[in-house]
Amino acid sequence: QELQMNLEQIEKGGYDHFMLKEIYEQPSVIKDTYRGRLHANEGIIQMAGVEDNLEKFLNADRIIIVACGTSWHAGLVAEYIFEEFARISVEVEYASEFRYRNPIINSNDVVIAISQSGETADTMAAIKLAKENGAFVFGVCNVVGSSISRETHAGAYTHAGPEIGVASTKAFTTQITVLTMIALRLAKAKGTLSLSDFHMYLQELELIPEKVREALETNDRAKEIAATFKDAPNCLYLGRGYNFPVALEGALKLKEISYIHAEGYPAAEMKHGPIALIDEQMPVVVIAPKQGHYDKIVSNIQEIKSRSGRIIAVVTKGDTQVRELADYVIEIPETSDALSPLITTIPLQLLSYHIAVMRECNVDQPRNLAKSVTVE
Ligand code: G6P
Repeated sequence: QELQMNLEQIEKGGYDHFMLKEIYEQPSVIKDTYRGRLHANEGIIQMAGVEDNLEKFLNADRIIIVACGTSWHAGLVAEYIFEEFARISVEVEYASEFRYRNPIINSNDVVIAISQSGETADTMAAIKLAKENGAFVFGVCNVVGSSISRETHAGAYTHAGPEIGVASTKAFTTQITVLTMIALRLAKAKGTLSLSDFHMYLQELELIPEKVREALETNDRAKEIAATFKDAPNCLYLGRGYNFPVALEGALKLKEISYIHAEGYPAAEMKHGPIALIDEQMPVVVIAPKQGHYDKIVSNIQEIKSRSGRIIAVVTKGDTQVRELADYVIEIPETSDALSPLITTIPLQLLSYHIAVMRECNVDQPRNLAKSVTVE
């Protein structure tokens, strides 16, 4: 028993929980994920699975992304990125819905299946269905040799290393890293990004690990804010554009490990429902980086404020406008709008981690959840 405990301590590498360790691993695993694939100075992105099947991607009428849970959120981020960079229409589907709704799939479709474990039953079934209908299926998995990585026609691994905490963290950011590289590679082939933008994104992507490291410095701030909100029964997360899926992911992290009811919403949709929930009891986490729909999100924040909601805003370093309105701000380094999910996600992971710890929840193994869901 004691030996077991010690072993676990060693595995956690000095952190109290696997989840925290994995959050802190993100700068290095993002780098591991692009190493050998991203050559920013040469303006090259090289991924064998993509190169070998470039024609299939380029001839695709559309891309269908299938996934579950956090991987589905990475798929939503990818939808925005693929459409913007490579001008390919993308649909993102819950694997569980896709498999049972007699979807329209044909041989000109590329299906991308995203799965950390590579074992999720619904995702696996969606892949089989897509294959039966003649689609080319590309996997983005973390676990090498997993069932999904074997079932797909080709793929690209995330190099996140083992993820033990049930709540996914580093898998999410490395999935986004892989998907961003694919979108950039296709954009280059299709000429849908200007050369200068293409190079800018490559350079920016290379800087992400360092910026994630900086974003991790918000840990104390996140802890402080967590102490204020740990007893809230509900929490709302709002974001727009690339950061709308980040709002969903932030809410998922909170509910998974702290059991606080949380919802993520596109900020502009607030007026169609969630705004009715806002009162002085309601914490609202708003993802409001400087790039991308900033003015719009500022007006959303004003709407929350005028209804006495308590605002926690994730902002770009040096922001002044949101600071005046929000009760709490968390500052993160600046990057391009499209890559910002890789940074804005970090303080949200930390926030939910600290809230869960303060509520004495089992952070690494939350009730009723499993790391990989191999049954329906
Ligand atoms: C479970 C896990 C989640 C994960 C989801 C999809 O629900 O608890 O963290 O996002 O499965 O898993 P996958 O391994 O396919 O990414």
